[in-house]
Amino acid sequence: MKIAQRIKAIPPYLFAEIDKKKAEAIKNGVDIINLGIGDPDQPTPDNIIKKLNESVVDPKTHDYPPYAGTEDFRQAVSIWYKNRFGVNLDADREVMALIGSKEGIAHIFLAFIDPGDFSLIPDPAYPVYKTGTLFADGFPYIMPLLEKNGFLPDLEEIEEEIARKAKIMFINYPNNPTGAVADKTFFEKVVKFAKKYDILVCHDFAYSEMTYDDYKASSFLEVDGAKDVGLEFHSLSKTYNMTGWRLGFVVGNAEAISALSIIKTNIDSGVFKAIQRAGVEALTGSQDNIQMMNEMYTERRNIVINGLNKLGWNLKPIKATFYIWIPTLNNMSSMDFANLLLEKAGIIVTPGIGYGEYGEGYVRIALTVGEKRLQEAMERLKSLQF
Ligand SMILES: Cc1ncc(COP(=O)(O)O)c(C=O)c1O
Repeated sequence: MKIAQRIKAIPPYLFAEIDKKKAEAIKNGVDIINLGIGDPDQPTPDNIIKKLNESVVDPKTHDYPPYAGTEDFRQAVSIWYKNRFGVNLDADREVMALIGSKEGIAHIFLAFIDPGDFSLIPDPAYPVYKTGTLFADGFPYIMPLLEKNGFLPDLEEIEEEIARKAKIMFINYPNNPTGAVADKTFFEKVVKFAKKYDILVCHDFAYSEMTYDDYKASSFLEVDGAKDVGLEFHSLSKTYNMTGWRLGFVVGNAEAISALSIIKTNIDSGVFKAIQRAGVEALTGSQDNIQMMNEMYTERRNIVINGLNKLGWNLKPIKATFYIWIPTLNNMSSMDFANLLLEKAGIIVTPGIGYGEYGEGYVRIALTVGEKRLQEAMERLKSLQF
């Protein structure tokens, strides 16, 4: 048996040591507080579950779904976009359903990267941008996200020769793992850059609704000319607590969506129609739950930010996402710091190195446990000697 080179090219799994320590700690009866998981801890809203229940018993949902998503789902996406961002989308050509946004993000590289082509990807970042490039036999070119630049890539630092060879750029705001946000001025710069070098821009907008303190995230497609060069990847996972349902969508440039659909029609057969009906309910029904979730995350954010600032950090409250990206103390590596928190305080955080080389020196805290447990985590940290 000879496994393909592309599997060997995938970066090693970095969390094996922490996973082992976590398993040991649990075995030894340690009360673990897990701040490592980027998965909402609250259930999917009732109206969405009810719609699935109704839909699943209707035999009309039992056959193969249309590849691009049902007409109703694509229409619902188009209406949601118009209401939320003022962006017009042609539901037939500019919207496509995905089996969660991860699926579309992984496959877009196969539609745009030929062997040897470059992708421009942020670091630290959601790892799929890199692995998607490698699976397409392309070269990932790193755009460092530095704190001094507000965790935005500096487009002027991209080498001219690489920019000319690049086919895709990925950006992601609100950002995982840094919690950073971007404004329209940044998006305008990206559109200009993409037009100059003829690059497809993919904006990963998974955290679009998870925002706090009156901040509202702008869509990349709100910027003039963005649809000429770009796609936006969306997910119902975080917005509606639907991570396990596997429903997302991509919107924007019709030609790029058509290219992606050629890859997808040869790999998958779409999303179960009953889930798409539930998705229509999510997008067109009451949006009150989003507000409730954001209030809940704001409370949690305040506990962690205030708690850590009392311990010597100097963190600003994040405006979006449920991630807090904190520098390690005493110049510790992210892995050593995460290990220390696990061993001495029973707290799991994600080492920044798992998101790329520029994640080194940071760890990510996810606000996916309740207030009491977060307070307990802060208490435990207080008793640690750093
Ligand atoms: C930045 C980012 N993009 C995309 C995804 C994928 O979400 P899904 O496939 O559930 O839509 C995630 C999930 O954690 C994420 O953090």
